[in-house]
Amino acid sequence: MNKKEFIDNLMKKMTVAEKVGQLNQCGNSIYDESYKIGWDILRQGGIGSFLGITDVEKTNELQKVAVTETRLGIPLLLGFDVIHGFKTIFPTPWSEAFSWEPELARRTSEAASKEAAYSGINLIFAPMVDVSRDSRWGRLVEGAGEDTYLNAEFAKARVSGIQGKDLSDGEHCAACTKHFVAYGAAIGGRDYNSVDMSEQTLFNVYIPPFKAAIEAGTRSIMTAFHDFNGEPCTGSKYLLTDVLRNKLDFKGFTLSDSGSCSQIMTHGFSENDKDTAKIAMNAGLDVEMCYGKFTYSENLESLVEEGLVSIESLDNSVRRVLEVKYDLGLFDNPYRSTEAAKNALLTEKTRNLAREAARKSIVLLKNDGILPLNNEKAALAGKFAENRGEMIGCWPGLGEANDCVAPADAFDFPIADKNYENCDVVIAFVGETVDMNGEAKSRSKEVLPEDDLELLRNIKKAGKKLVTVIISGRPLVLKEVSKLSNAVLFSGALGAEAGNAYKDIIFGKYNPSGKLVSSFPESVGQQPLYYNLNHTGKALSDEERWATKYLDSKMYPPYYPFGFGLSYTQFEYSNLKVSNTNPKQNERITVSVDIENIGKYDGDEIVQLYTRDVVASSVRPVKELKGFKKVFIKSGEKKTVEIPLDIQSLGFYDRQLNYIVEPGEFVIMAGTNSEDCIKESIFVK
Ligand code: NOJ
Repeated sequence: MNKKEFIDNLMKKMTVAEKVGQLNQCGNSIYDESYKIGWDILRQGGIGSFLGITDVEKTNELQKVAVTETRLGIPLLLGFDVIHGFKTIFPTPWSEAFSWEPELARRTSEAASKEAAYSGINLIFAPMVDVSRDSRWGRLVEGAGEDTYLNAEFAKARVSGIQGKDLSDGEHCAACTKHFVAYGAAIGGRDYNSVDMSEQTLFNVYIPPFKAAIEAGTRSIMTAFHDFNGEPCTGSKYLLTDVLRNKLDFKGFTLSDSGSCSQIMTHGFSENDKDTAKIAMNAGLDVEMCYGKFTYSENLESLVEEGLVSIESLDNSVRRVLEVKYDLGLFDNPYRSTEAAKNALLTEKTRNLAREAARKSIVLLKNDGILPLNNEKAALAGKFAENRGEMIGCWPGLGEANDCVAPADAFDFPIADKNYENCDVVIAFVGETVDMNGEAKSRSKEVLPEDDLELLRNIKKAGKKLVTVIISGRPLVLKEVSKLSNAVLFSGALGAEAGNAYKDIIFGKYNPSGKLVSSFPESVGQQPLYYNLNHTGKALSDEERWATKYLDSKMYPPYYPFGFGLSYTQFEYSNLKVSNTNPKQNERITVSVDIENIGKYDGDEIVQLYTRDVVASSVRPVKELKGFKKVFIKSGEKKTVEIPLDIQSLGFYDRQLNYIVEPGEFVIMAGTNSEDCIKESIFVK
C-alpha cells in the first residue's frame, strides 16, 4: 500500500473527533498530577502531538498509549525547541551565522536533530528564519541576522540538517520553520508587537528565507504571535492561504505558536473561542499548539457540524499531519531504544563539532597587535570567566552548565585580583546574560551593562593591557569598549566548548574568521539599522546639511558594518572581473576577484558579493548581498576567487508582487565587508 492509500484508508475510519485530535498539540502537563485527565483524552484519540517531552522513557510511554490504546493506533508527533543543540550545545544561531558557513549550520543542526531523534523527538521547532533589522528585539539571537539572502542560505542549510535525506531513518526530525511572518519587524523592536509593512517589503525582505526553507523541504511552519497589517498571523487567510499555500506552494502543515491561536481573541479579532477556531481553521492553520486553552479540540467538531468549517478543510489539515507522521516512519516504528539514546548524547564527535563551530562563530572586532597572545602574564576577569551556565545562552535544550567549558576551565590563568597586580594583560569576559536576550527580552538600549563597563574602565585605569571578550545576543554599542580595549572579540553564547574556542583564538591556534551578520550602531537610538537601506532622495551622510542622519550621533558607516570582522592576517582585494558585462536575464555569470594574503598568518577570508540596481521602477537598496565564499589563503599566497551570480537573483517584487528583473546597469561589488568593496558595472539586457 502506498502512502496515499494508507492515509486514505486511515482517514475513512476516523471520526470527526479523532480528526480534530490530530490537530491538537499539548504541552508536557500530561505528566502533572493536576492534568491526569490528559491521559484519557489521549486514549480517546484527542491528542495528535505533544511538545516539551524529552525523556526517551516518556516519549516511548506516550507513543505506546497512542499506538496500542487508542482506537486507530495513530502515533504522535513529539516536538521540542532544539534551537542550537539538544544535549550538546552549539553556538546560538545568530553567532553561528558569523561563520558565514551554512554547511557548518547544516552539520550542527543534523547533530542536534540526531540527539533529539534518539530520544524520541520527531519534530523540531527550528530553524528561526526571521530577518532581524532591529537590535532591540530580543529574538534576533535566534536567527541569522539582518540580511535576507544570508538568512535564506542558513534556512536551507538548517532545514536540510534537521531533516536529513531520509526522514524515516530514526536519526532525523521534521523541521518547523518559524515564525511566519515578519516577526522581526515588530514596531519599536518590542517582542509580540504589531507589524505594519508594505507587501513589497514583505516579499522582498521577509519571505525569501521562508521560500528557501520550503524549497529545502521543511515539513512544517509555525505561525507568529503578532498581527500583520491588522490581522493576527495565526488567523490570517491572506498569510496562511493566499501567500503560504498559493504563492509559496507550501505542502506541509502549519502550527500555531504556543497559544497564538487562542490569542486571536486577545488581539480583539474574534469574539470567543469558537469564533477563534473558525477564523484560524478557515485561514489555514492546521495544528494548534495549545497554551492554557484548547480552542480547536473544544470547538472544531461543532463548527464542522454547523457547516462553519468544511469537512474538506479539516481533512486537508489532518492529511498534512498524517503525511509527516508517515514519512517519519512512525507507523512502522514509533519507539526509540533507551540504551542507544543514552549513548547518542554528547559524544566526542559532537564535542569536536561544537568546538569547531564555536571558533568559527567569534568575530575579532579590534586588535592593536596584542593578539594572539604569546607568553604574556595574563589573568581572567569578568562575570563570565568562570560561568559555565552562561555559555549555553537562550533555548538551552537539555544543555547543562557542567557539560560546558567556561573560559577559566580552558585557560591556565588566575582570576585577576582587584588591583590587577600580578599580570600584564587582563582578558575580561563580559556582556549580556542569558536573561537579556531571547523571547520577551527586548531592550530599549543595546548597551553593555554598566558593571561590565566599570570593570573595563578599572582595568584600563590600572594600566593593564585589556582583551575584552563580549558575549551577547544582539549588536551592542561598543564605542567606549573599543577605546578602552587593546583587542575586542565578540560572539554569542558559544555552547559546550566555549572556553576552548576562546583559548584557540586568543593563542592563535585558530585565526579568527567570523564576520558580523548585523550592523553595530555608533549609539543607541539608531534602530532599526541595516546596511541594505533604500536610496533616499537625500544623501546618506553625516556631514551634509540636508541628509538622512542624526544631529547628535554619527551614523555612516555603522560603528561596525555588516560583514565586518578582522583576522590576524590581512587580505588585499584586486582585479574584480565579471565573465559577461552584458548578460541576458536568464544567464548565470561568474564574478572573480583576486585576494592576496599579505599578512603573516594563514587564514580564512569570507569574500562578499554585493550588487546595486542603479535605476529601477521601484526604489532599490544601496547594496544587497548576493553571494559569498569562504576561502583559506596561506600567508603570502594569492587566490582568484570565483562567485557565481544568477542574473535572475537581481530582481525584486514589484507593486503587483510580480518578480521582475529590469534591464540596465547593475554595480557589482566584492569586498571584505559591506563597506570596503571594489566595483564593476554590468548591463543586463
Ligand atoms: C514560543 C516561541 O515563540 C516559539 O519559538 C517556540 O517554538 C514555542 N514557544 C514552543 O516552545
